[in-house]
Formats: sequence, structure tokens, C-alpha cells
Amino acid sequence: MIQYKRHLVTAALPYANGPLHVGHLCGAYLPADIYVRFQRLMGKDIVFICGSDEHGAAITMRALKEKKTPSEIINTYHQLFQKTFQGIGISFDYYHRTSDPLHHQTSQEFFLNLYHKGAFREIESEQFYDLKSNQFLADRYIIGTCPKCGNENAYGDQCENCGSSLNPTDLINPKSVISGETPEKRKTTHWYLPLDEYESWIKDFIVNGTLDGQEHHDPDQWKNHVLGQCKSWIEGGLQARAMTRDLDWGVDVPKEIPGSAGKKLYVWMDAPIGYISSTQQWALDNQKDWESYWKDPESELIHFIGKDNIVFHCIIFPAILKVHGGYNLPSNVPANQFMNLEGNKISTSRNWAVWVHEFLEELPGLEDSLRYYLIKNMPEQKDSEFTWKGFQDAHNNELVNNLSNFIHRVLSLTHKYYKGVVPDFDPDEIIEGVAGDELGGFHDAELIYLFDLIQEVNQHIREYDFRSALKALMDICTAGNQLLQNNEPWKIQKSQPETVEVVMNLALHYVAALSMTMQPFLPFTAIKLRKMLNLPDLTASGELEDMLTKIAEGEFIIDAGHKIEAAQYLFTRLDDELIQKQIDKLHNSENQSKQTNSETNMESKHLPLKETISYDDFAKVDVRTAKIIAAEKVAKADKLLKLEIDLGFEKRTVVSGIAEYYKPEEIIGRQVVFLANLAPRKLKGIDSNGMILMAEDADGRLTFISAKEDWYLGSVVK
Ligand code: 2FM
Ligand code: ZN
Repeated sequence: MIQYKRHLVTAALPYANGPLHVGHLCGAYLPADIYVRFQRLMGKDIVFICGSDEHGAAITMRALKEKKTPSEIINTYHQLFQKTFQGIGISFDYYHRTSDPLHHQTSQEFFLNLYHKGAFREIESEQFYDLKSNQFLADRYIIGTCPKCGNENAYGDQCENCGSSLNPTDLINPKSVISGETPEKRKTTHWYLPLDEYESWIKDFIVNGTLDGQEHHDPDQWKNHVLGQCKSWIEGGLQARAMTRDLDWGVDVPKEIPGSAGKKLYVWMDAPIGYISSTQQWALDNQKDWESYWKDPESELIHFIGKDNIVFHCIIFPAILKVHGGYNLPSNVPANQFMNLEGNKISTSRNWAVWVHEFLEELPGLEDSLRYYLIKNMPEQKDSEFTWKGFQDAHNNELVNNLSNFIHRVLSLTHKYYKGVVPDFDPDEIIEGVAGDELGGFHDAELIYLFDLIQEVNQHIREYDFRSALKALMDICTAGNQLLQNNEPWKIQKSQPETVEVVMNLALHYVAALSMTMQPFLPFTAIKLRKMLNLPDLTASGELEDMLTKIAEGEFIIDAGHKIEAAQYLFTRLDDELIQKQIDKLHNSENQSKQTNSETNMESKHLPLKETISYDDFAKVDVRTAKIIAAEKVAKADKLLKLEIDLGFEKRTVVSGIAEYYKPEEIIGRQVVFLANLAPRKLKGIDSNGMILMAEDADGRLTFISAKEDWYLGSVVK
């Protein structure tokens, strides 16, 4: 393993357009925090950097929706993020924001550097322009009919009905979300990063872990799903990507560049540079040298992110850094997968989420319980699941029954037997009944075992395997519990006081070791426990490393004669009522959001009326009554059904994007209104000949247009 002198750890800059939920927390921030806290305790020179991502369509869309300015949006969420991260104990060294002038300056310098190197390719293309609002439209600002499934509300980059990824120019009848007008195509020029030219070194970097012919990192230490996503991107052929946009919110393309007016940096160009500007601000505030962390080859760079950010951190940002020159590339990008909630995907728009700031307000004192449960279920290799019941069980069975009860027992027995003073023992004394050993030998052997258990935590953390690290932490507790169970000091206190002294001294060693080793996982509990043990607060500057050295050298880590404070329970049971309240809240808030969404959807879906047409135009459309006579799923297409339609005088096959609303067996026999003279098209290899007409209900679900009376099949709708 490569030994580094310094470590720079970044966690994805969250978009300042909505609150943080538990999925965000366990995707990037918690794993990064555990890693950093542990390395600090191990005496490593490590800096932990983050900040708010305040540019891009994510912000301006939210502002548009809420009828606010982008600044109002980012200020609200930037403040909320700072409070939330602090509340849940994410220990950034610096939390910056990309609207800060220093960030604008740094990203402009970066852009200019690449420009002067001739790195960019200038490409002219046609993009949609909204004449009414006088601006080019980002992909998400255009909606229209999906050419694949006919959904009328497909976005410029994706149809959420059939899942197809689209270009805005693919949309039929495109409209601007801002004005409702039909946008026109206009030529525009942008600066593209020619990733296709870097394919060979990017491949070496990802696949072999080499850079400029030298070993850079061990790719075997990267997660499979991270490598898999990068490799499939590379295999698909890398393409030049535009690094600028026509927008009015973001970092300006530097004025020195001809044609820069009205152009902004693409948010994925400036956001990762946010890691650099955040480090710069940290260095300024703390009289440090930021460059040594970014540029010295003896410094390591690690990006903690969620899986949707993989290619940006493993391919695009490394390409930007390499072309610039002088910067380190990441030695690992331990991305996590996603966390689901009570059987469904977490969804901001449906309000199906556990919001971290609400958790902190409603369940104060349970910060570490949330951290514990999220670490235990961290989606490290595959998607995982949050359930309130699971949260309750982990808290009650593991934190209360194992950790809290063990610690309470040790501390209260210490008070009972020794008035709260750590007992000493005579190392030469023979232990009665325990393998005829001397107390000193027994104590040493137990400490070596404890040392190994702590090293196991260490090893898992270095491998970014935080679930196993947490389990190894709890194994320390279990081992401490076993020490008590095996020796039952409460039974032999009178008859073998010498043995009880060594057992209790050891048990207190376990508790002292836990007070330090638990800190990266359960920082709030660690503070409480250190107080109870009357040990100094951790300053996270190598105390764990010192403790391990002491144990290895057979020294005490909690001195005999040291007086501890009164025993208290660190965790107490969570009752069903409290948990049920949260479950009810989740379901209620989802229902409320359905209601509000359907109201706002209806507002936004009242697209302006189309232009007037003549009767002759209308007469060209051949709409008929029809009946579905067969229905089946389409292979490898979750949203599509293949339908047989009876028009009375002939039968047709059509492919329809309604699988998420109707099961095949439900719709056989339904009367439908059918567009019979639509030009045929092929969908998933099936010839689709016509289209069933549908209308949305208040929730945006597609429903059939049908009648109570029986129709004469094939009659003309006019
Ligand atoms: O996906 C997101 O939330 C992005 N704001 C992450 C940016 S990470 C980095 F590049 F800044
Ligand atoms: Zn579609």
C-alpha cells in the first residue's frame, strides 16, 4: 500500500436546492466523516473539505418553481446544510460555497489555463432559444412529447414515462417551461473538453491504476461498481463534452476569452473546482499551505460521493486536473450506492424521505443512533434500505442491550466495589480457577486481544468497509461483555477479590478503548463516555495511535487509582409509539405532497392552447373507438405494454407507455379512443401501428378515455 504524507478528503458538494435526507448522509458524508475522524485519531495529516454547490439548473429550477431568486434559494439551503451537518456531527475542516468570489476566481483561472493551453475544442451547435424570456434553454427547461412513447411532458434530457434519455431537439412540439412558448433553434458556440483525445490515458488510469506510465494507485482497492461504471463509459466511447452553457446564473466564462459574453461555466466544470477553492479558504483561515495538499505527490486525494457522481469524479474532473497539470488525481473514489426508504426510492418531490434536519428537531439526542443505523446499512456495494422498525431494532438491540448495558455495568460495578476508582492488581498473583495463570499474564493476553480488535476496525476503515468496521467496533463490546460473563465478578467478589481486581481493571480498559474507537462512528456518545470516565476530551490528534502504542507496550490506558464519574445509561430503549409516529408522518407527508404536486402539476400542465387549425386540418386526424383484446409486457422495458386493438373492421398492434399504471390483465376488454392514422413506428423491435389516446388524472397518472355506454367499434370520433 502506498504511504502518503498528507490526505485530502472531499465529500460531494450538495446542491443547495433542497434539504438533506438520510440517503445523502449515508451516501457520501458519513463514510467520509468516519474515515477522516479515524485518521485524525491515528495522527494522520488529513483535511476534510466540502461546501454547497450553488450553480446549475438544480438551483434555477427551484427558484423558478418557488418564484424566488437563485440567491434566496442558495442562502436558505446553505445555512440549513451547515446547521444540519453540524447537528449530525459531520466534522468538515471547511465548508465553503460556490457562490463565493474566491471560488469564481479559482474556477475562472482554471478555465483560462485550459483555454490558453488550447485544450478546448470550440463547437457550434443548434440549441433551443426562448424568444419571450430572451434566453437559451437548459435541457430541463424544455418539455414536449416524447418521440418514443408519446408522453406529452417529457423533459429535454429524459422522458420520465418511458425512461428514454433524450436530446431537447428530439422532442415533438417542444415548449419552454419558462414562458410556455415554442422555442426556436439558434446557433451557439461552446468550449468542449475533448475527452475522446484522452481515452488512452483515462483507460490506463481507471483499468490499471497507472498515470504517465507510473503506478498511481491499486485499482483492486476501488469498488467494483465504481470501476464497472467507468469501464462501461469508456467502452461506450468517450465524447467531447461542453464545459460552458448559455445561462445567466453561474461562473462567468472569463472576459478575456472572445465570445464569452452571456456564457457561464458548466456546473460540473466549476463544482469540483469547489473542492480546491474550499481548501484555499481553509488554508487562508488557518495559515496553512493548500497547495501541498493538492499538488505534492506525497498527498493523497480521496473523493467520497454517491453513485450518480461517479463519471464526473473518476473521468471528467481527473481529465480537467491532468490537462491543467500540477495537481494530484484521486487515489480512490469510494462511491456508495443508494439507500431506499420503507420499500420505495427516496423521492424529494413525493416527500418520501427522512429529512435530517427534521430528525434532529424531532428526535434530539438520537444523533448517534441515526449514524449507527445508517452505517450499519450503508449502501457500500449495493442499494440498501432504511426502515423505521430497523432503526428501532438496531437502537434497542445493539446500542442499548450491547453497548450501553455493558458500559453501565462496568462503571456501576466499579463504583460498587471500588468507590469509582480503577483497581490495581498484583501481576504475580495466581488466578484461582482460571488456567492457573498469573494475573499479569492474563491481563497482557487480554490486552493483546483488545489491540487486535481495534486494529480490525482500523483495517476495515482503510478499506472503506465501514459496515464491517462498525461490526468490529461492536465486537469489542461483545468481547468486553464476554470477559464479564466468563468471570462473573459479582459471584466471586468476596471469595476471589484479586481476580475481580484484574477483571474489572480489564473491563475498564475495554470501556476506555471504546471511548476512543467509537468516536468516528458515535462522536456524541464518545464525548459523554469520556466525561463519565473522567478522561480528557479527544482532540483527534493521534490519541488512538498513542493508545495502541501503549497497549502494545503493555502499559495501562486507564490508570489504576483514576477516579471515574457516576455511571449513566448512554442509550435507553425507543418505544413503539415514537417509531409509529415517524412512520405515520412519512405516509401523511407523502399524501400531502401528492395533493400539492397534483395542484401545481395541473397549474404547470395547463400548457398554452395550441394554434388554431381549420376543420380540414382536424379532419385529417382519424380517431376511432376501439377495444383492447390482448395485452402483455414488453421485455426489457418496464414502462411499455404491447396491446392488440380491435377496431371492429381490423386489428392493430400498438406499444403503449402505460405499464406503470395498468397491469396487462386489468385492461383486456377496455374500450379506448384510438388514433388510427398515426404513421407506424418501431418500439423495442415491435411495429406499433396507431396510438391509444389518454388523459392524466390529478396525480399525473395516465388514464383511458372511455364511455359508460358500449361503443360501436370502429366508429369515428368527431
Ligand atoms: O449531485 C450533486 O448533488 C452535485 N451537486 C455534486 C457535486 S460534487 C462536486 F463535484 F462538487
Ligand atoms: Zn417516453
